[in-house]
Amino acid sequence: MGYRIACLPGDGVGKEVMDAALMVLEKLELPAEFIHGDVGWEFWRLEGDPLPQRTRELLASTDCCLFGAITSKPKEEAEEELVPELRGQGLVYFSPIVRIRQEMDLFANVRPCKAYPGNPLNIRGDDIDLVVFRENTEGLYSGVEYHPVPREVRRVLEETHPKMSRFSAVPDDEIAISTRIMTRNACERIVRAAFEYAKAHKRPTVTLVEKPNVLRETGGLMTRVAREVASGFPEVELWETNIDAMCMWLVKNPNLYDVIVSENMFGDILSDLCAQLVGGLGFASSANIGQRYALFEPTHGSAPKYAAQNKVNPLAMLLTSVLMLDWIDEKERSRRLESAIAQVIDEGKSRTYDMGGTTSLHDMAKAVAARL
Ligand code: IPM
Ligand code: MG
Repeated sequence: MGYRIACLPGDGVGKEVMDAALMVLEKLELPAEFIHGDVGWEFWRLEGDPLPQRTRELLASTDCCLFGAITSKPKEEAEEELVPELRGQGLVYFSPIVRIRQEMDLFANVRPCKAYPGNPLNIRGDDIDLVVFRENTEGLYSGVEYHPVPREVRRVLEETHPKMSRFSAVPDDEIAISTRIMTRNACERIVRAAFEYAKAHKRPTVTLVEKPNVLRETGGLMTRVAREVASGFPEVELWETNIDAMCMWLVKNPNLYDVIVSENMFGDILSDLCAQLVGGLGFASSANIGQRYALFEPTHGSAPKYAAQNKVNPLAMLLTSVLMLDWIDEKERSRRLESAIAQVIDEGKSRTYDMGGTTSLHDMAKAVAARL
């Protein structure tokens, strides 16, 4: 029968890298039906919703999703770009990818960062091979934010927290609050996913990256839960590091790390840093994994300035396809695709602009397909 895979190319270079992925998956003869779905800026502008209901239904009826990239803009700018008849209705733009992750409970954002030998962009050598597990549904990206802050919210905070008195004199519209909400359940499942991965892949350590000395409650909860979970995995060692120090250590000794686990925003930041250590966003793949569904997207955005130029590096999207094949348990195809990518990088004949060459997006993808 084959798999049913939703394809959401989205905006900008998302469309081009999606075409590259489909070409390569076809070459692999993956038995799958690819079903196109609407998502992104165009649908925000014309319909007031970047993630239309029909697309959510498509996701609900497929095995998994391959996703390109989308453009996100701040609230006011987004409102200005709506077609005139939709303006002034109180429509608020909210990133569709963040929404899918939360609505479908795709709680683990898994981002491998591996230095493929021969990549001229491996600024820290060829021996980095780590995986970031980013909590994907809550933390600082929970979306519970206030501006202006409602009176009753301020009153409750002032009554219940002594530190709030410092802000008593600030007018309501001169203060904004974004909450960092973390639940035991979410901490547990992301840490467990990291440890299970480490165990299955024979990785000796999991590094928890937090800031419990300052973020005492949320960071404290995550740290306690991580220690509990770790006690069930005697073969994997738990390392604990603060986010600020970790940025330094990653630049200094990136090859020391195996699996990194952290809250949503810290993981967002760390995954860009780690991506750059192994060649940048042209090589950064990611998987958003839930209990029964998963969505695969390159870490890069829609890069509007490069859109429709057949220019960006498609390898991030092809490495993302490797993750998808792995998740649907097509291990053999996954291995073949990854090794074709590794060969193309090592050979050095195909080099996209980010690698200092002139190979086009399409030719790079063709070079990979030719090795399958
Ligand atoms: C990422 C991106 C997204 C995020 C943006 C586009 C909302 O930065 O996937 O890392 O913050 O999660
Ligand atoms: Mg990011």
